[in-house]
Amino acid sequence: MNHPIQHPVIDDRMARLRQRDCPSSDFRRFVQEIAQLMVPAVTANFPTLPVEIETPLEITTGQMLAREIVLVPILRAGLGMLEGFHRLLPEASVAHVGVARNEDTLIPESYYFNAPANIQDAQIIILDPMLATGGSASTTMSKLKNHGAQHIHFACLVAAPEGLKNLHAEHPDVPVYYAALDTQLNQQGYILPGLGDAGDRIFGTVRP
Ligand code: PRP
Ligand code: URA
Repeated sequence: MNHPIQHPVIDDRMARLRQRDCPSSDFRRFVQEIAQLMVPAVTANFPTLPVEIETPLEITTGQMLAREIVLVPILRAGLGMLEGFHRLLPEASVAHVGVARNEDTLIPESYYFNAPANIQDAQIIILDPMLATGGSASTTMSKLKNHGAQHIHFACLVAAPEGLKNLHAEHPDVPVYYAALDTQLNQQGYILPGLGDAGDRIFGTVRP
């Protein structure tokens, strides 16, 4: 279940942040803006329940989200998307999952997991700007499922075909939303054309 999200403003922000000389302050803002623009598409199929409400004039029926929402940024880079989602979903709670891939083997290593108690019934949205091999996202999904999570969506900015294929094979129940589909991975596991190391660019930790 792959869901490309197309919007001219998303394309504009994506073109700006991909540029090598885009400063970290702008990069962070563009990631946040794209994330916010993705929210309507990512949440489009969330179930709602009818509720009786009292307007100032009479009683009527409205629709409210059936499940509590838990946002799950994969540390570090996923934190860059958090504010954009939280702006439109301020009631969402947040689970932090730390996964970093080994730069030589590309194998993801988990180093932190802190989730609220309601993840079993909640609607979960995992956030990470980059889907490269898919290892980090898949590890996060497995961890959440081991803790009972049942309703998981995944949102990223840039997806590589390899990552989409692997995620689909390992977690076919999880819909994947992305703002751009890139061409391939290079030998170091970076997405081409990509944007480089998202975490380093968001947090200004690029090494010389
Ligand atoms: C980056 C990115 C994803 C992962 C994608 O994180 O934010 O989590 O790599 O690669 P994969 O699909 O091959 O697993 P990284 O491990 O560099 O950690 P960071 O966010 O702390 O920089
Ligand atoms: N992680 C990143 O930050 N960028 C890539 O291109 C691949 C993995």
